[in-house]
Amino acid sequence: MVWDPQQYLKFSGHRLRPAVDLLMRIPDFAVESVADLGAGAGNVTRLLKERWPNATVTGVEGSAEMVAAGRKAAPDIDWQQQDLSAWRPARSYDLIYSNAALHWLPDHATLFPALMQKVAPGGILAVQMPRNFTAPSHVLIGETALSGPWRSKVEHLVTPPPVAEPALYHGLLAPLSGNIDIWETEFLQVLEGENPVKEWTKGTWLTRYLDILQGEEKAAFEAAYGERVAKAYPKNAAGQTLFPFRRLFMVAQRKD
Ligand SMILES: C[S@@+](CC[C@H](N)C(=O)[O-])C[C@H]1O[C@@H](n2cnc3c(N)ncnc32)[C@H](O)[C@@H]1O
Repeated sequence: MVWDPQQYLKFSGHRLRPAVDLLMRIPDFAVESVADLGAGAGNVTRLLKERWPNATVTGVEGSAEMVAAGRKAAPDIDWQQQDLSAWRPARSYDLIYSNAALHWLPDHATLFPALMQKVAPGGILAVQMPRNFTAPSHVLIGETALSGPWRSKVEHLVTPPPVAEPALYHGLLAPLSGNIDIWETEFLQVLEGENPVKEWTKGTWLTRYLDILQGEEKAAFEAAYGERVAKAYPKNAAGQTLFPFRRLFMVAQRKD
């Protein structure tokens, strides 16, 4: 999947809010090492470094485009371009932080305990993932995929939601945790502009579909989805689009 940092950052204010909410829930403690998983364009990684300026902060990121943007935004971060599914660090970290990235990885039942094993005793695993996959913004991507001439090319992407119920993560992390705090927030995002929900998903979930298609077919897919999603999220009288978006948060402290 090719990430476009500019498309992703179009809604940087709304995308930053959950990252900061997560950061603010991490208690003050002595942090010497931080890993930011799926660090993206570095705008959040920079905040981790600002909060713990003496810590070594490592940004692990799979996309070359994002790493290039990250190196510019946060040059004092140790950037590692690597696929997270192959991330097996030899060391542990005081803080493993991940904002809006782990939903791209499969098999959370294996992933989450494995990440917790890489947190030093007394350290923190802090994760935020979108859980909006049953909302029209995301369901209509699948619906469009299955109802056009492109179906055979993209239907393998129409899969069950990648993020489970909060209780599943509690069950996975509680045996390894001293304290654990899991919560959900639904943000009522007020967006401006033409068909902004399409523009939003074009920076993330829609990209996988558009990447596969070419030329006119790609444009037709985007237009067909755009028409559906504009109807699902009509503008209000002030010309704004209200886009409710649910996110799952967890902050778990590793047992000593
Ligand atoms: C939605 S962005 C979030 C970026 C950043 N954490 C933030 O809050 O702004 C998701 C990031 O995860 C990265 N990512 C997704 N799957 C990945 C994988 N398997 N390995 C490494 N990075 C991955 C993407 O390249 C992208 O930069």
